[in-house]
Amino acid sequence: IVKAVIFDLDGIITDTAEYHYLAWREIAEELGIKIDRTFNEQLKGVGRMDSLNRILTFGNKNLSVKEKDYYAAKKNERYKELIKGIGPTDLLPGIEGFLQEIRDVGLKIGLASASKNAFTVIESLKIGSYFDTIVDAALVEKSKPDPEVFLRAAEQLQVPYSTCIGIEDAEAGVIAIKEAGMFAVGIGLESDLALADIVLPSTELLHLKQIIEIVEGSFG
Ligand code: BG6
Ligand code: MG
Repeated sequence: IVKAVIFDLDGIITDTAEYHYLAWREIAEELGIKIDRTFNEQLKGVGRMDSLNRILTFGNKNLSVKEKDYYAAKKNERYKELIKGIGPTDLLPGIEGFLQEIRDVGLKIGLASASKNAFTVIESLKIGSYFDTIVDAALVEKSKPDPEVFLRAAEQLQVPYSTCIGIEDAEAGVIAIKEAGMFAVGIGLESDLALADIVLPSTELLHLKQIIEIVEGSFG
């Protein structure tokens, strides 16, 4: 039986995944490394410093800790500039209706984000009131694909892990949901999100009744 739905933020609630990519692409270029959207799949859901480390490994480049701090901070400044103008119209299609559907049947709603900007983004989108809990990168030790952020969200909601549905656009996030013992809904391409229990091409197709039928079919 399903008791809660736990959302990823970037790329699920709103398209900030694109802004993370644009900011990293600029920083990578400054470092003489060219990244593209295919490589970017490996950065989705991954924390700030881990993302920089993956870019450096990809470009065969070494930096000192101090230099890494500099570039990570610079990326965040650029990212914050890019998201300055976002508002309620930037919610991805179907998301607000889906949140309302969950509310209407009395299930709990959590946010499990790897981003330290999660609270700011939720506030800009004006959807904070839908969430019973928000767990962001500042509240956990290990970043996705570790399940910690999803486990913490379920604990805050006071529901068993196995009664949660997690929604993710990133491979690292889908792994985290499965490691947490939850049902994983992936949004994106089947080829990127092979470990998800179901994959939908767009947030527009998120409908609670249908998903619950599939969950109950596979677990019941
Ligand atoms: C995740 C994004 O939600 O947050 C990643 O998918 C990002 O792309 C990570 O790197 C960390 O975000 P921030 O805002 O703390 O740099
Ligand atoms: Mg995401």
